[in-house]
Amino acid sequence: MSSTLIMAPLRGITEAAFRDIFARFFPGFDRAVAPFISTLQGSRIKPAKFKELLPENNRRLPVVPQILAKNADHFIATARLLAELGYTTVNWNLGCPYPMVANKMRGSGLLPFPEKIEAFLDKVQDLPLAISVKTRLGRRDPGEIFALLPIFNKFPLSEVIIHPRTGIQMYEGAVDLDTFARCVELCRHPVVYNGDITSYAVYQRLARRFPTVQSWMIGRGALADPFLAARIKHMALPADPLQTVADFHEELLACYQEMFSGPSPVLGRMKGLWFYLAGSFANGTKILKKIQKTKKLEAYREITREIFQHGIWQPEQQGEST
Ligand SMILES: Cc1cc2nc3c(=O)[nH]c(=O)nc-3n(C[C@H](O)[C@H](O)[C@H](O)COP(=O)(O)O)c2cc1C
Repeated sequence: MSSTLIMAPLRGITEAAFRDIFARFFPGFDRAVAPFISTLQGSRIKPAKFKELLPENNRRLPVVPQILAKNADHFIATARLLAELGYTTVNWNLGCPYPMVANKMRGSGLLPFPEKIEAFLDKVQDLPLAISVKTRLGRRDPGEIFALLPIFNKFPLSEVIIHPRTGIQMYEGAVDLDTFARCVELCRHPVVYNGDITSYAVYQRLARRFPTVQSWMIGRGALADPFLAARIKHMALPADPLQTVADFHEELLACYQEMFSGPSPVLGRMKGLWFYLAGSFANGTKILKKIQKTKKLEAYREITREIFQHGIWQPEQQGEST
């Protein structure tokens, strides 16, 4: 059976416009999870966040909205609005590691509190949408997940996406594949693996080790090598893949110039992408430094033109030294 590939949510990068343009140039992803919307202010959602999730802005790549919440009533109110837009699944964020979020008992901050998670799932289970969760192994201790899996098993979740790190690890250190293996055994729901899939070779090793895992979520690896999903699915690549990356970059830049006013937010977004994309070039660190220094669009254009014309692109090697 062929694998399902899911584009990971990366707040500030994989928003609706990005996903749409990305999917136009790079095949391979079956769906995406959108960066979280927060229910901090009760059931009100900022109109801009809502716009992100309007079906007309998400035609090319099916998307599952994600909610960051610790209050079940707020979650329910937001999920109902999403159901009205036609969504049939919503994802609950149990992974966000940032102290500002986690210290308020949201995202990975909820993981040490199984009884709160159970009460939350109990309350939201009557919603007219399927619920999936995206979790880490724990906030501080990777063993926290073993108190959570029996709770997840009690509820009709559509899938459990596991990033096998703890919250305090942020995105550093090795993924804990041994603990992930035990999770796969203990979880009765479909488990999605997420974390550090940076090349076809990495994917292949994981797919061999976890033959029952059917779905794979990829974030940073696909920003570094936008053809990664196509490689995994053995799809034909264009004759000059770097030119396709350049065309995508051009389109994205034009889109952000239309969306945002002034160079600063436009360059901020593009720099966010280059943080990962640069890793696929031979002299990635140097490239990134140069780009991060630019403050003017003209200078940015010149640097990136040079990179796409003369840069040495070697995506299959990215991430190997980490
Ligand atoms: C800049 C950034 C923003 C992120 N935003 C979200 C988010 O909104 N929701 C979420 O569940 N995960 C978020 N993540 C985590 C990713 O979805 C993913 O779990 C993580 O990057 C590990 O997968 P990867 O190694 O394939 O990138 C974010 C990660 C980064 C680096």
